[in-house]
Amino acid sequence: MIEFRDVSKTFGQGRSSVTALDGIDLRIAEHEMFGVVGESGSGKSTLLRLINHLETPTTGTVLVDGEEQAALPARERRRRRQDIGMVFQQFNLLANSTVLDNVAMPLRLRGRRGREQALQMLEFVNMAHHRHQHPSRLSGGEKQRVAIARALTARPRILLADEPTSALDSGHTEEVMAVLQEVRTIFRTTIVLVSHELEVIKSSCDRAAVLERGRLAALTDVTAPPPRRRSGSYAVRAREYLA
Ligand SMILES: Nc1ncnc2c1ncn2[C@@H]1O[C@H](COP(=O)(O)OP(=O)(O)OP(=O)(O)O)[C@@H](O)[C@H]1O
Ligand SMILES: [Mg+2]
Repeated sequence: MIEFRDVSKTFGQGRSSVTALDGIDLRIAEHEMFGVVGESGSGKSTLLRLINHLETPTTGTVLVDGEEQAALPARERRRRRQDIGMVFQQFNLLANSTVLDNVAMPLRLRGRRGREQALQMLEFVNMAHHRHQHPSRLSGGEKQRVAIARALTARPRILLADEPTSALDSGHTEEVMAVLQEVRTIFRTTIVLVSHELEVIKSSCDRAAVLERGRLAALTDVTAPPPRRRSGSYAVRAREYLA
């Protein structure tokens, strides 16, 4: 369980400060596929980065499994962070390493025999046959599947995905979303999915948070068919479309 208790995050000080998140209260359940939508700058990435402690709240508390990470010693925080995987819009693969080395990287850094496990994860995302290639030879969808395999090698209980399909065409988007669904079903991973693409959230998430200028504009169950009305602000349309 991930819990935000009245969380605000401000960057900078004085007149040049930016409030990225403002009074967020939120609970994300185990094994949930939870969507986060909102316009550019509404605080989506900041919200994700608070979950894996890449950012600390200015005020309020973020709890993961009832623990407040900010209160833990640095070594414990690093250990907890390994329980949380992350994938990004731009894949962040190492260009000069093979697919297999990219996926084995986090395991080898921790001194384990990683290649076998890495290969297993590549099989899971159906990329084992490309293991000796370099990322530049792959399509965007293939790169993202490799990045997902890499995030899974540490067997995280939570996977954070920041616009994982935003650089992809619709075919590759479906392919990557299908993999994320399987991750959730097979590994029972809690997934927090940030996307500005409402269809992606609509087709895959149980619930979604709509952010508007750092505030939680809506928290909605993603179930009913989309409404016809297509006017109003992004937050209003998002809430109507998703609910
Ligand atoms: N490290 C930082 N230093 C200063 N300002 C920041 C920092 N990170 C984020 N911000 C600001 O906080 C606000 C929210 O940023 P955030 O990246 O969370 O938005 P986002 O919803 O992910 O946007 P996008 O859709 O463009 O990725 C923005 O105004 C941004 O400029
Ligand atoms: Mg972002």
